[in-house]
Amino acid sequence: MCGIVGYTGSEQAAPFLLAGLAALEYRGYDSAGIEVLSPDGGLHGVKCAGRVATLQERCATANLVGTSGIAHTRWATHGAPSDKNAHPHLDCSGRIAIVHNGIIENYRQLREQLLTAGHEFASDTDSEVVAHLVEDSLNGPAHGDLLEAVRIACGRLQGSWALAVISADNPGQIVVARRRSPLVIARTGDGAYAASDVTALAGKASTVIQLEDGQVARMDKDGSVRVISHDGTLVSRPATYKIDWDASAATLGGYPDFMAKEIAEQPEALERLLADRLGSDGIRLDELDMTAEEAATIDRVYVVACGTSYHVGLITRTAIETWAKVPVVVETASEFIYHDVLVTDHTLCVIITQSGETADTLAAGRKMHDLGAKVLAITNVVGCTAARESDGVLYIQAGPEVCVCSTKAYTAQMVAAFLLALYLAHRKGELDNIQVAEKYQELRELPDIIREVLKRSWQDRVAASEFEGAYSSLFIGRGVNATTAAEGALKLKEISYLHAESYAAGEMKHGPIALLEPGYPVVAVVPRDHWHDKTVSNIEEVIARGATCIAVATDGDADVAALCNRVLWVPPVEDEILEPVVTVVHLQMLARYVALDRGCDVDKPRNLAKSVTVE
Ligand code: AGP
Ligand code: GLU
Repeated sequence: MCGIVGYTGSEQAAPFLLAGLAALEYRGYDSAGIEVLSPDGGLHGVKCAGRVATLQERCATANLVGTSGIAHTRWATHGAPSDKNAHPHLDCSGRIAIVHNGIIENYRQLREQLLTAGHEFASDTDSEVVAHLVEDSLNGPAHGDLLEAVRIACGRLQGSWALAVISADNPGQIVVARRRSPLVIARTGDGAYAASDVTALAGKASTVIQLEDGQVARMDKDGSVRVISHDGTLVSRPATYKIDWDASAATLGGYPDFMAKEIAEQPEALERLLADRLGSDGIRLDELDMTAEEAATIDRVYVVACGTSYHVGLITRTAIETWAKVPVVVETASEFIYHDVLVTDHTLCVIITQSGETADTLAAGRKMHDLGAKVLAITNVVGCTAARESDGVLYIQAGPEVCVCSTKAYTAQMVAAFLLALYLAHRKGELDNIQVAEKYQELRELPDIIREVLKRSWQDRVAASEFEGAYSSLFIGRGVNATTAAEGALKLKEISYLHAESYAAGEMKHGPIALLEPGYPVVAVVPRDHWHDKTVSNIEEVIARGATCIAVATDGDADVAALCNRVLWVPPVEDEILEPVVTVVHLQMLARYVALDRGCDVDKPRNLAKSVTVE
């Protein structure tokens, strides 16, 4: 995780660096720091535990003058989130500064060697070894060449890194490097910029260089960029891609927080994704790069993801198994990467990742690729590692999702998975042209149904009061809406810190029912589907124990209305497999209101980061 920015050019560096950190803060917010090369020829910096706002306050009086600099917002992996562990880290001379995203896995051995050689360390981080390694190589084999010094230093590292390095003895230069952590570079009329993510560059550039694994690049103040590979050979045509998000997409635009904005953006996001997807020969997914023959012969699908994207995977399984009649295995990536997997000549692996940078999910994709499976990525971020490493990619086109808690990416990923399932079903001859067109039409109705649910946010506002004083809560549902319950519980716990457990409603009697007591909040997702009556019986069990039941139910459901303390109403949805796209919207809004009532920062929940680039 963590966000890195760098700038060298004709303008003052600090204003961009601080604004860039603020834009990247969703990647981590344990500490922040900045280092600028001053006109007096020395490095000057400020760093502190806490958020970018605290750093900005400190910088207001620090007089950071200089046109080259680097900065960092941290999600701690090694060492407490303290002032001394905040990046940038300096070498012994204080003339080299580095920022790092990732984990240096062999840092213990390197630190021992460097200590033995007389280096002194100021932090507990794994990252600091990089500053001392660059110090050694710059003064040794690289003979003062910063690009070469960083390349040599990287050769001694194991693990993952995106690095930005500045040296007082190489004024006007910033050297960046990457392995398994993202980094982009932009060249403009006023210099060169580097960032973990294009979000920090919105409004600055329309095209970026995407550094590949193992590459090292030097940015100069005239805006020129020289990229070399790990063995020192020049990369004459580094990979580039166009930024397709405008700067306003990553601003609040009048909403109180990004979570509110992103929940509200769901109808438009789905409309974008669904536009023009039906051709004369079924669903059009040209970007998948999969021939009709390949699709027709797929005999096994693995879906691998983490967190909210894993929940999308569970829904994907139902859609593919129901419509395309292909067996699907769904697993969380952190477990999947450590066991044997059966891969046939016709195995498809779908990795689902909003950020496209989740380390565990990327590792799962690489594993399946090595085993010979075709790997498809469902992702939101154009040019992300998942997209570049996969055989095909389906972009959900949801626009930047800034809130750490995923909302619009969840519903858009589900709809993308539905499109994929319909595509496979058609190619395998399980659904004909007319059936596919009907399903597509049902998908196209979802944005308006969500618009209607959004108008009912007052129901969630009121229902949130049922969580006042609660110490725990239970979310239940059946079938595809057991997954909605799981996603609702994840939303609630990650942003309100209130414990929330989710269970398939029929399993409640096998244990969790013991939790129930008068006033205990239970959220039951019970739309009119073929599980409805069974779930209503489970609600009876909840009510019989005096617990408080908040239901998500279909308009006009008198049984649920009579039983439950509160009802969050949804309009009917034709095909129950599509229902989770609608029911979850209430649970997103409910979680947000509960979190706000508890005084939580909904956009930046504690201990979390948006992009989990470490294992
Ligand atoms: C979502 O609200 C969570 N913050 C988290 O579970 C997230 O979905 C997970 O880390 C996976 O991220 P990805 O989709 O970017 O791979
Ligand atoms: N491992 C480094 C640290 O703990 C960087 C972590 C990150 O990528 O945020 O400081």
